[in-house]
Amino acid sequence: MPDKILLLPDNIANQIAAGEVIQRPASAVKELLENAVDAGATEIKLILQDSGKALIQVIDNGSGMSETDARMCFERHATSKIQTIEDLFHIRTMGFRGEALASIAAVAQVEMKTKKTDDETGTYLEIENSVVKKQEPVAVAKGTSIAMKNLFFNVPARRNFLKSNAAEMRHIVDEFTRVALSFPQIFFSLTANGQQIFYLEAGNLKQRILQLLGNVYNAKLVSVNEKTDYMDIYGFVGKPETAKKTRGDQYFFVNNRFIKSPYLNHAVMSAYQEMISGDSFPMYVLFIDLDPTQVDVNVHPTKQEIKFEDEKIIYAFVQAAVKHALAQFSVTPTLDFELDSSIQQLPSIQQPFTEEKRSAATAGSIYKGFTEKHQAHFIEPTKKSELKHWRDFFESPQSAAVGSEQSAIGSQQSAVGSQQSGVGSEKSEPFTIHLPIVIGTPFTVLTQFHNQFILAQIDNGFILINQQAAHERVLYDQLSIAMNGNAIATQRSLFPVTLNLSPADAAVLEELMSDLHLLGYMIEPFGKNSFVIQGTPADIEQGNEKSIVEKLLEQYKHFSSDLKFSKREKLIRSVAKQQSIKPGQRLTEKEMQGLVNDLFACRQFNSTPDGKPTYLEFKLEQLDKMFKG
Ligand SMILES: Nc1ncnc2c1ncn2[C@@H]1O[C@H](COP(=O)(O)OP(=O)(O)OP(=O)(O)O)[C@@H](O)[C@H]1O
Ligand SMILES: [Mg+2]
Repeated sequence: MPDKILLLPDNIANQIAAGEVIQRPASAVKELLENAVDAGATEIKLILQDSGKALIQVIDNGSGMSETDARMCFERHATSKIQTIEDLFHIRTMGFRGEALASIAAVAQVEMKTKKTDDETGTYLEIENSVVKKQEPVAVAKGTSIAMKNLFFNVPARRNFLKSNAAEMRHIVDEFTRVALSFPQIFFSLTANGQQIFYLEAGNLKQRILQLLGNVYNAKLVSVNEKTDYMDIYGFVGKPETAKKTRGDQYFFVNNRFIKSPYLNHAVMSAYQEMISGDSFPMYVLFIDLDPTQVDVNVHPTKQEIKFEDEKIIYAFVQAAVKHALAQFSVTPTLDFELDSSIQQLPSIQQPFTEEKRSAATAGSIYKGFTEKHQAHFIEPTKKSELKHWRDFFESPQSAAVGSEQSAIGSQQSAVGSQQSGVGSEKSEPFTIHLPIVIGTPFTVLTQFHNQFILAQIDNGFILINQQAAHERVLYDQLSIAMNGNAIATQRSLFPVTLNLSPADAAVLEELMSDLHLLGYMIEPFGKNSFVIQGTPADIEQGNEKSIVEKLLEQYKHFSSDLKFSKREKLIRSVAKQQSIKPGQRLTEKEMQGLVNDLFACRQFNSTPDGKPTYLEFKLEQLDKMFKG
């Protein structure tokens, strides 16, 4: 039989590898921004067309590259950042794999201009499908400009799977925010379709947080600052009153690298225990600095997951540092004013990090992991291949992305991980007594009590209706009908209000505007990140339109990581939750009767959209039995 194995041509191999690194415009943005940071730039400009689908350009004033390096940088495994396996333990740069530019050049048309500080002329390079098309000297300022056009022009299947411009923009803003937060001493700007979205003067971390996450945090930030020989932690956490219904404003950086860690997130959450309600999320921007030998940054192609040599110490330290900060700023006067003594006692914190320890660390699991792998991009054979993973992602964006969230969580300590099951995964409580009422059963509303429940008599007993849950179901059904073309009437506001949002929230609202219109909200753009609320659904009380829309956005973001729902489904659920009658609201008899009638006219009257019961039923015979004992 003839041999059948062929080596793939470079450009195809690069294209396949690119799938891991460049999944969407936002991943390219992240890589280009990080390269500019690594090049020591003090000014970094990001320019986009069509949410990065047509153009992503990053211009920096960093070190620039020589003519040879300019060509080399697009080769796979070409990097100036590490030379030996040892260097992997001292990584202080964002990049180290030498894969980003090779991946970018494989899936876009790239133009680069670069010049080193002392060189007379710079280099211009055009590259497409991993092939250099043009190279010539050029007169440019010091630094590097890389423009990538028509992302995935040569991989139509993946281009087709890109989401709407608004959705891709949201991902880009997320990545931009992470890099910009992490380097407040660098100037950043973001211009999209000619409009300037961010202009971030170099400054300190606090200023950067306010620039990026909004002025709502002004005077609401508590500084965290603890130093030990083992690690430092610094940054800010939000006062408890700024906790939101979404986990949006939560950032961890380890050695300046943004990471996702449900485990450490739990540490912060636990420090807030009792200070915020269980379903809200405190804001935090925390930086952990520790010896790079204690961290493995090489566990995931996007470098957003890392492994700590000793995760438990980090957990205890983060928790203690946040508690300490909250206590010191008398947010919670009852807490200890010192770091927990148990943590002070930990040997790693008490003793300095000596050379001896450093060599001991290289005998640890992280080091072994590296030396076993001996390559930047090791894909564990037992795990589902990441390559397969991105394919799933593009074939079925929802299922694969949900899977990745689960696997990230699964890799954390199980006890903590299980509590961290992510936004939108509320479990439906089992009914204790659940026997669906036959539609048409006559019921008489008896009373409302605690301004929360409605008691109604039915033929063979009584039911206890949760007014909020019932209303949520009713609204959900009405909104679903509206979304299918039967738009809800808008009541024009007598005094239209202006809404100023953070750029990220503005992108979300922009995306939802047309659907919101169907639901009775008339909102119009009004310049930079501002909107005017011209009208709201007729049954909404006028006067607090602004806070209603703000809360609605919050609620929507709360759902937005739940990829199993479509955009419209998330919106309907958000509006239903947001507009539903809350506990504490007194209802007239007529309102109660109306609500109960509406509830039992719904097809799925016995549960809310997320599966919680709307009422409990108590039958006479059960009551009889209970009394008889
Ligand atoms: N903006 C830039 N300014 C100066 N040099 C750059 C710039 N971007 C890339 N380089 C050079 O090109 C090399 C390759 O970049 P690339 O992003 O592909 O890899 P990396 O940053 O080393 O690793 P990673 O794949 O993890 O990002 C870098 O190591 C760096 O030397
Ligand atoms: Mg890089």
